[in-house]
Amino acid sequence: MVKVSAPGKLMLFGDHAVVHGRPCIVTAVNHRMSVEMEKREDSKIIINAPEMNINDYTVSTNELNKEHPKEVKFVAVAIKNFFEKYNLKSGLNIKTKSEFSSKFGFGSSSAVTVCTIKALSELFKIGMTEKEIFDLAYKTVLDIQGVGSGFDIAAAIYGGTLYFVTGGKTIEKLDMKNLPLIVGYTGIKADTATLVRMVAEKKKKNSYVDANFDLAEKIVFDAKLHLENDNHNVVGELMNSNHGLLNSLGVSSAELENLIHSAHKAGAYGAKLSGAGGGDCMIALAPEEKKEVVKKAIENAGGIIIPVETNAKGVRVEE
Ligand code: MEV
Repeated sequence: MVKVSAPGKLMLFGDHAVVHGRPCIVTAVNHRMSVEMEKREDSKIIINAPEMNINDYTVSTNELNKEHPKEVKFVAVAIKNFFEKYNLKSGLNIKTKSEFSSKFGFGSSSAVTVCTIKALSELFKIGMTEKEIFDLAYKTVLDIQGVGSGFDIAAAIYGGTLYFVTGGKTIEKLDMKNLPLIVGYTGIKADTATLVRMVAEKKKKNSYVDANFDLAEKIVFDAKLHLENDNHNVVGELMNSNHGLLNSLGVSSAELENLIHSAHKAGAYGAKLSGAGGGDCMIALAPEEKKEVVKKAIENAGGIIIPVETNAKGVRVEE
């Protein structure tokens, strides 16, 4: 029996632009997903995902190609891809557990995909490298969603705070302490794939979208420097600029704007949406003495504060 856990993530800078060849900065958060796995003597794969109300979802190893319910898709396709890559086959008992709700946009699908592949690598003694896990997990997510930069998979594997370029072309750890982020959940689940496709459509029609991404890239370069130097007031300003770019792409929402505006009014250094937009979470950075006031302001504007620590550890085998 092996148990593996991986962290969720929050995008700090470069949302959307990272789908189109630009860099982003992502931090792993201390809300983890875990997968327990053991081999079975027969050819059944039995998945339990209590938080998703999945009890004993059962397929045989020959049925991994079929269409699976969305709650178990990432686990099932990850197993299929792993078995194909290493020419293996075995029955398995699998149990997933989440410390965070899939609705926050913390990346539960990518974290569970990474946990599944790492657990298989341990169980079958393959000793996959981090990059090999990344490539197989990224393939799995693309097989299912068709779009995505892979930044969330990198955060789940490597942990910490990463400078990441589309598809894992560059994955670099920032030398940074915990960032005192304030996270406000809008209460609305974002549809990432739809928003990513909408931005891609816009990019095809309007050349300004490329210029928008170029500016986002410049912001990411500056943010990297100022994050490493703990210049939180400048990081906050850069968050505001990045949010302006995202808003101009049409991916913000009235709820996000409301929470971001309330954070500004309460004295935050800066605030922005995090991820695809349309809902999920906003993040803010504030001077230490204003943190509580900013949190209250976000709550008064209808947001739900989610306590997070940044820079969390990447995927690991649990004893
Ligand atoms: C979604 O959380 C972040 C996007 O940049 C998509 C991606 O990078 O895969 C919008």
